[in-house]
Amino acid sequence: MADGVHLYHPELRQGPELAELLAGWKPGKTASLGPPTPNLPATVAEVDGRLVGFLTGHHRFRHWEALPDHRGLAGSHGSWLAELFVHPAHRRAGVGAALVSHFIDESVAAGASMVVVRPDASDSGVEQTARQCFFLAQGFVVLRLDPDVRFLPEWLMGRPNDHG
Ligand SMILES: CC(C)(COP(=O)(O)OP(=O)(O)OC[C@H]1O[C@@H](n2cnc3c(N)ncnc32)[C@H](O)[C@@H]1OP(=O)(O)O)[C@@H](O)C(=O)NCCC(=O)NCCS
Repeated sequence: MADGVHLYHPELRQGPELAELLAGWKPGKTASLGPPTPNLPATVAEVDGRLVGFLTGHHRFRHWEALPDHRGLAGSHGSWLAELFVHPAHRRAGVGAALVSHFIDESVAAGASMVVVRPDASDSGVEQTARQCFFLAQGFVVLRLDPDVRFLPEWLMGRPNDHG
């Protein structure tokens, strides 16, 4: 983990600092971090006492039928990494990697077979390529999707958990 990054689950999700961080989230896009989303536990990252990033996700992914190479996981549950955001002033310092690593640890502890992420496809190609590079660096690969299964018709990346 990057030096000086403190990760924890915020108790007070409406704190002004969190609101400030969320204000940096893309215009027109509503991050689902907040009180109405108890099903998406959030982890926040703090550096020098300031919130600089967050991740939301859960451990109840079961849509293996959409992933031809992973249908053997039917019956197991996976983890779904829903959102990840690092303040632009704090990027390329390992904060995103620390948040993802923390989520993977939680996923393993929850007995999930794999972490699946749907990288946001709403930006330019350059930004999409950058986030794909980020997830590749965290050990994720692009997942093959079954075109006949109606489930999130964009692209997904995944990383099997190593239960040792
Ligand atoms: C994607 C994002 C979360 C990365 O966070 P970060 O804290 O800057 O990432 P890290 O510093 O942990 O990067 C770890 C590694 O990932 C790769 N990486 C990160 N950002 C990258 C980029 N823009 N281009 C290419 N590779 C990148 C690098 O290998 C990097 O290691 P290095 O800095 O030693 O080369 C951040 O850029 C972000 O919030 N983007 C906007 C929202 C978003 O795209 N969210 C994710 C999908 S929903």
